[in-house]
Amino acid sequence: ETRSTHWQDEVRRLAQERDAVILAHNYQEPAIQDVADHVGDSLALSRIAAGTDAGTIVFCGVHFMAETAKLLSPDKTVLIPTAQAGCSLADTIDADQLRAWKAQHPGAAVVAYVNTSAAVKAEADICCTSSNAVEVVNSIPRDQPVLFLPDQFLGEHVRRQTGRDNIEVWMGECHVHAGISPVDLRAQVAANPTAEVLVHPECGCASSTIWLAGRGDLPAERTHILSTAGMLESARGMTAETALVATEIGMLHQLRKVNQHTNFVPVNPKASCRFMKMITPDLLLRCLREGRDEIQLPSEIAEQARRSVQRMVAIGK
Ligand code: 13P
Ligand code: SF4
Repeated sequence: ETRSTHWQDEVRRLAQERDAVILAHNYQEPAIQDVADHVGDSLALSRIAAGTDAGTIVFCGVHFMAETAKLLSPDKTVLIPTAQAGCSLADTIDADQLRAWKAQHPGAAVVAYVNTSAAVKAEADICCTSSNAVEVVNSIPRDQPVLFLPDQFLGEHVRRQTGRDNIEVWMGECHVHAGISPVDLRAQVAANPTAEVLVHPECGCASSTIWLAGRGDLPAERTHILSTAGMLESARGMTAETALVATEIGMLHQLRKVNQHTNFVPVNPKASCRFMKMITPDLLLRCLREGRDEIQLPSEIAEQARRSVQRMVAIGK
C-alpha cells in the first residue's frame, strides 16, 4: 500500500541520515518489525546493541530494553520512540525493595531478569533473559543461595530446570503472560489435540503445562517452554499442522514468516502488551526526525548496572 511504502522509505532514509540502526523486539507490531534492521528477543538485541558500528541505536521495544542497550553501548546515542513504554513486570520491584530483600539473605547471589530498571540491575550480581536464565543460574556455585527476580513463573521454571532448592523467587509477574491461564491452554489443547505447544516461561500456565504433561494430559514431547527466540528456532523445522502459542501475540508475525506451513494459533488472542504497542509507526518517524526520546542514565547507577549486564553477555559466548 502506498502510504506504508512511503512511510517505510522515509524511515529508512532518516535512519541512514542519522547513522542509526533500528532494533525491534519480537512483540512489536508487524510494520515496525518489517522496517527494522534486526528483530529478535531481548538477549539477541542486547548482543547486537553491544556490537553495532552505528552511531545511534533506535530501540523499538520497552524502556528497560533500550536502557540495557545504553548500558552496553554507553558512548552511543540510544533512542526509544516513547519513554512511556514501560513494563509492568519491571515495575514490581525497585532498588529499595531489592536492598531490603538482600539484607534478609546475606551471601546470596542476586540474579535479575533484564526486565528490571537500571537501578535494580545495579543492585544485582548478574542479569539474565528468558533465553539464558538456566545457564546463568548454573554459573553460580551450586551451594550458594540465589535470589531470583522479579518474575515468579520464570523463577519456577529455573528451579525446575536446575533442580536447585536454594532459589528464592520474587513474586512479580507480567500481566500479559500471567493472563494466559491454564484454562485457556486446556481449552485450546482440547480443540487442537495434535498441536505442538509453545509456552513462554513467564506464562501463568507454564508450570501447569508441565504438570499436565506429567499426568499425560498434554503430550510431553510436543510441549516446549521457550523464550521468543527459542520459539522461532523450533518453528523453523516444524512439520506439525498446528502450533499453540502462549506468549504476547506480536510473536505470531515472525513465527508465520519463518514457517508458512504450520498454523500458529494464540492460546489467548487478547495477550497483547500495551507497552510494546505504544511504539507506533508515527512515533518511530518522530523519533528519527527529532531524536527523541533519548535514554540517559546517572553514571553511578550505570557503572554498577553495566557489570551485571556484561557478566550475562559474557556467558554462552
Ligand atoms: P524475550 O526475552 O523472550 O524476548 O522476552 C522479553 C519479554 O518482555 C517477555 O515478556
Ligand atoms: Fe513487560 Fe510483559 Fe510487556 Fe514483556 S510482555 S514488556 S514482561 S509487560
